[in-house]
Amino acid sequence: MRIIVANDYDEMSRKAAHLIASQMILNPESVLGLATGSTPIGTYKELIKLYKDGVIDFSKIKSFNLDEYFELPKDNPQSYDYFMKANLFNHVNIGEEDINIPNGMCENIERECNDYEKKIIEAGGIDLQLLGIGRNSHIGFNEPGEHFETNTHLVQLDEDTIEANSRFFDSVDDVPTKAISMGIGSIMKAKKILLLASGAGKADAIYDTVNGPITPKVPASILQLHPDVVIIVDKEAASRL
Ligand code: PGA
Repeated sequence: MRIIVANDYDEMSRKAAHLIASQMILNPESVLGLATGSTPIGTYKELIKLYKDGVIDFSKIKSFNLDEYFELPKDNPQSYDYFMKANLFNHVNIGEEDINIPNGMCENIERECNDYEKKIIEAGGIDLQLLGIGRNSHIGFNEPGEHFETNTHLVQLDEDTIEANSRFFDSVDDVPTKAISMGIGSIMKAKKILLLASGAGKADAIYDTVNGPITPKVPASILQLHPDVVIIVDKEAASRL
């Protein structure tokens, strides 16, 4: 694992965007794994700038998002589909047919999960997977548990995750309790992984991810076994390292 400590959120975001941009420049047909949450918003803003400056081009890029709330329609402003359009896709030249996000409104959950895995394989696998991390060390919506879930699956969200995400909803009761998430196996198959964390609230999760035992109780700890992981953290998230 390579760990880069940035002075603050903005520097973390710039560095992350430049790493993603270099992947896109070297391979304009890259398959990107993308994440939602507060953490990558600054990175997406920087990517939009780089696109507008003519540095990067999304016309041949394919994207796969990590997760989506279950039974939340796409036009709900809290859906991850909505988030991705608002924060990135509406501002760059990615083709609509090249965007993949699990369908939280699907009728057959098993088929949806299997099809999502198949689509990633058919696209040639993920070249660069962007990750945030939960306070409880989840990646995607792979919550702490007794074993690592391999493939895309339906997840029961942790109380802590529901509470953390309630800041985006009118009340905690409005937060969906389930989501569809790529599994730990799907994430680990990515050729490169870029994990971002900002703020003191992530310091314990980052410490355990980097230094702790590899255990499904700390889902991100599995990244210790991946051959090409870059972690970019601000000083606060790095405070226990
Ligand atoms: P955050 O969420 O970026 O909003 O902190 C990260 C996550 O839960 O994976």
